[in-house]
Amino acid sequence: MIIKNINLETVCGITSKLPDNSYPEIAFAGKSNVGKSSLINALMNRKSYARISATPGKTQTINFYNINDEMYLVDLPGYGYAKVSEQEKIRWGKLIERYLHGSKQLKAVFLLIDIRHDPSANDKMMYDWIVAQGFEPIIIATKLDKIKRSQVAKHLKAVKQGLGLIPGTKVIPFSSVTKQGRDEIWEFVETEYLG
Ligand code: GTP
Ligand code: MG
Repeated sequence: MIIKNINLETVCGITSKLPDNSYPEIAFAGKSNVGKSSLINALMNRKSYARISATPGKTQTINFYNINDEMYLVDLPGYGYAKVSEQEKIRWGKLIERYLHGSKQLKAVFLLIDIRHDPSANDKMMYDWIVAQGFEPIIIATKLDKIKRSQVAKHLKAVKQGLGLIPGTKVIPFSSVTKQGRDEIWEFVETEYLG
């Protein structure tokens, strides 16, 4: 994808109405701090257009990035952040559910998993939830630069087993530091979901 222009067009909180977009949407889910906003920046060829932070819980809204007036990359708020009240978790669930269930333009949901760690119960729940909403999640194993090359296959296997992936599910290793995996993600999005 050649990035000509990007625009953070809509920021949706708990009480906001979801946008009635006319271009396809591709969403990125995953636990807090897994690297969703970093991935979106890498896809947009920007360093810090989407706000990233070492402190989990940075993105608490659904952010719609308009790409070339052609499509949207959608940054979802992360889950599994311990310092969040029960009430906030419920609000988060309602917001995500409203979006996954209600968006007419949502074409695909990518689920990000830190390649270093076995998927958590929350990751598994999120995976099953995405499947239950009728999507075939694509897995992105993030922070690839943090493990040795010789360990990659072992970690990918643990991710697949931990989530109980449907056979044939695509898993793309990715690093926002080296940008490895970025072209593969774009190629996949362009061939599968765009005109
Ligand atoms: P929330 O908005 O809290 O849900 O987090 P997020 O999933 O958007 O994560 P974010 O992109 O803000 O990244 C969290 C931290 O991980 C930041 O300190 C990033 O610099 C770091 N990070 C993200 N991706 C990578 C990666 O591929 N490699 C390395 N080494 N660090 C990464
Ligand atoms: Mg974020």
